[in-house]
Amino acid sequence: MRFLVIGSGGREHALAWRLMTDGSAREVFVAPGNGGIDDAFRADIEVNDFRGIEKFCSDRKIDMVVVGPEAPLVDGLVDYLAEKNIPAFGPCAGAAMLEGSKLFAKSIMEKYGVPTGSHADFTSKDGLINHVRSLKNYPIVIKLDGLAAGKGVAIPGNLAEAMAFIEENVKDGGRVFVEEFLDGEEASVLGISDGETVLPFVAAQDHKRVFDGDRGPNTGGMGAYAPAPVVTAALLEKVCAAVLQPTVDGMKKEGVPFKGILYAGLIIKGDSIRVLEYNARFGDPETQVILPLLDGRLGDYFQASVNGGLKGMSLRFRDEHAITVVMASGGYPGNYAKGMEITGLDKMDNDVIVFHAGTKRQGDRLVTAGGRVLNVTAAGKTLAEAREKVYGRIGKIFFDGCFYRRDIAHRALDRA
Ligand code: GLY
Repeated sequence: MRFLVIGSGGREHALAWRLMTDGSAREVFVAPGNGGIDDAFRADIEVNDFRGIEKFCSDRKIDMVVVGPEAPLVDGLVDYLAEKNIPAFGPCAGAAMLEGSKLFAKSIMEKYGVPTGSHADFTSKDGLINHVRSLKNYPIVIKLDGLAAGKGVAIPGNLAEAMAFIEENVKDGGRVFVEEFLDGEEASVLGISDGETVLPFVAAQDHKRVFDGDRGPNTGGMGAYAPAPVVTAALLEKVCAAVLQPTVDGMKKEGVPFKGILYAGLIIKGDSIRVLEYNARFGDPETQVILPLLDGRLGDYFQASVNGGLKGMSLRFRDEHAITVVMASGGYPGNYAKGMEITGLDKMDNDVIVFHAGTKRQGDRLVTAGGRVLNVTAAGKTLAEAREKVYGRIGKIFFDGCFYRRDIAHRALDRA
């Protein structure tokens, strides 16, 4: 089969790598891709250029499009391609609202009994401010409805911080909600669905804060590992029964069946699980640690999701552990320079995979082109072995200003 993967991050490089190496694909193209994708397989088409994507599919006889990021899903790329008879893996725009509107997601969770925190929603800024002033227990969670590229959530520790966030980010008439703060350990459980059946992937844990010890501002994710032991086998069953399946069943009842990747961002305390948020796509960087552990052909699952054939299938995983560490540009997640030459990738051993994110080719040189630049990834029989492989090699890669967290997987390793 010929696949076209849409997106430009480490997640999309990992998807292309997996489809190409597990026998799913004859050819995999990526649009717009990054410096990790051979130029012959990179299409200079932006993710919102639906006509350009359609034309590329017809010119190159693409059998299936795989949509990585949330924005084109919410904007209806899968619906658009379906109208042109081009199969695309991912939810339709209506189903992607599980990520596109946090309030829609809350309404589905509440209607179908999915465990989550309590909330109050507002369109009036004054109403929001009055509510926040009445709260006694901090921290609280304030969420803007709609996609906000990871910047739509604040966890103010006191009233002054809450007011500062509201003044800077909330417009009168905009939809906002205040949610109970949920204490516990976060984990991501992703499931693949065909609109009826949903199969869980191995659980992963992301590291959202920029600095070691989970300090500093939130980022898109500085590293991840899988499996995440906080999600025991019993908890994974519970996530399927209490979160993934009721959500898929609920979306079907609502008349917008969810096909694609349903990502449940969870908070776990003891045996209790609650959903913080849904995403309607693969996680980044979770994908970079989940896919190396998968047995079987990823493309078969994508086809079954699109065509409604997941019933009777199961996802199987190698009895190994994987870890990915993000190398980032100095200053990220704030301002950072681009165009720094990247060296040392030729010094990696075969047991380490480097997925590219913010990179591009400039003649013979590879240079930085984003905040999260590379995902240095390895698998091993134990998490400690996988970690050793990554941290033993990552120092050989260099670009001006590069930095990375040195404690990825600390929670699992501390537990052992
Ligand atoms: N790792 C978080 C996300 O993909 O949204």
